[in-house]
Amino acid sequence: MKYFTTTSKASRRAVDCVIVGVYERGRLGIGAADIDAASKGEIRQLIRSGDVSGQLGRCSVLTRVSGVKASRVAIVGLGKPGAFDATHFKKAVAAATGAIANTRTQQILNCLTLEPVGDSNPYYLARHTVETIGDRLYRFTQMKSGRKKPAMPLKNIGLAIAKQGDASKAMRGATHGDAIVTGMSLAKDLGNLPANICTPGYLARTAKKLATGNSRLTTRIVTETEMKRLGMGSLLSVTAGAVEAAKLIIMQYKGAGSDKPVVLVGKGVTFDTGGISLKPGPGMDEMKFDMCGAASVIGTMAAISKLKLAINLTVVVPAVENMPGGQATRPGDIVKSMSGQTIEVLNTDAEGRLILCDALTYARRFKPAAIIDVATLTGACVVALGNHRCAVMSNNDDLRAEIVAAGDRAEDLGWPMPLGEPYNAQLKSNFADMANIGGSGGGSITAGCFLGRFTNGLNWAHLDIAGVAWKTGAKKGATGRPVAMLSEVLLARANALP
Ligand code: BES
Ligand code: MN
Ligand code: ZN
Repeated sequence: MKYFTTTSKASRRAVDCVIVGVYERGRLGIGAADIDAASKGEIRQLIRSGDVSGQLGRCSVLTRVSGVKASRVAIVGLGKPGAFDATHFKKAVAAATGAIANTRTQQILNCLTLEPVGDSNPYYLARHTVETIGDRLYRFTQMKSGRKKPAMPLKNIGLAIAKQGDASKAMRGATHGDAIVTGMSLAKDLGNLPANICTPGYLARTAKKLATGNSRLTTRIVTETEMKRLGMGSLLSVTAGAVEAAKLIIMQYKGAGSDKPVVLVGKGVTFDTGGISLKPGPGMDEMKFDMCGAASVIGTMAAISKLKLAINLTVVVPAVENMPGGQATRPGDIVKSMSGQTIEVLNTDAEGRLILCDALTYARRFKPAAIIDVATLTGACVVALGNHRCAVMSNNDDLRAEIVAAGDRAEDLGWPMPLGEPYNAQLKSNFADMANIGGSGGGSITAGCFLGRFTNGLNWAHLDIAGVAWKTGAKKGATGRPVAMLSEVLLARANALP
């Protein structure tokens, strides 16, 4: 994809499609006003006839508008003028993109970037434009046979700016957005692939492939033999019932000399049957998405390494399949983690924490500046926060606030949840150092507390993405979240934001 900025008027650029907007009660946005003037009132006429509406997300596509150089004009509703914020901006761009998705549009010029949106930061408006178009045009067709509908052949995205002084900020936003789209698309692909293809070995090969031809990035795979030597009894207990070999994937990106790295740890359960504590049948197919934490940290690595960001980033992915079987771990079994702490496995379906605890212990060797684990960890998190925000827990108030604020800026939202006593006490076991479940109530928090027992002394945060990593129903599919949030944390730490 190529990007450009322009100070010229909406009617004056000969692109395949120009996006402009109208607000409710017939108020024209800046681009729409220009198109209206150039076409001698065509837009106002269409508003009067009811063919164009200011209702947020409604879109009409006009072709060959007189006095306008672009071959298409996508007019999208922007809602109430005073309420137009970054969320509405993204909705409007998505609607316009959807309206032309089946056309042969090669160039788009987005004029909505001229509207007052929050503090109207040209960097974020450009980034949101690129991310939204990339998200809307994403398709997963790898597994379909036969002739596939061709994707829109988009080559150029233009960003309207008010003054030439905004050009470099907007271009930077486009570049960052482009890399985030790459990372999100990879995360979506990995999530959408079925578990018979996206195995632990497949994740490992994908991580290896990312490193080839990137001199700053190396990938290393820790095998089960090595895990045994390291004493990862907790991680190994989850893979005990599986035929597929578990992998611990280590990706190291060096963009800042000897600085301490940020470490991202992603839950990579390529399929979660629940193990002996078998899950009920309906909807179980969605447990192929139980590696979306892994997908998001690998996707974030793809974005950051593409940008050649001046930061050190390490990604750790424990990748396993959670299966029942004659060798599988039983409820009541007691396992010894790499940290030396023993765990009574009261429920084999609480397996994410069992692989993450050993991955977190392993990650201590990297002396992280901050360590963030990302996991589709608990159904309870979906109950608590729904599909809108992921949960953010941390043993450090500043780190938690940093992540939530990054999510706000990136329009990839999180929300703080607590840790500590008395939730932590719910993990008491009669037989081992702790149980792997915390009983009734606060299931997301007790899961976080479990991980907290393995991150003492680390600057650590935990993201429970169970509600946001994929969509169910007719639009079933991975979302690529929270690649944008994690990338924003790293862009800020690398001082790469304008
Ligand atoms: N992968 C699931 C969590 C999950 C469930 C995410 C549904 C998204 C939708 C996790 O491994 C799990 O099974 N958690 C259990 C924990 C319980 C046994 C304490 C859960 O949430 O039911
Ligand atoms: Mn489970
Ligand atoms: Zn799981």
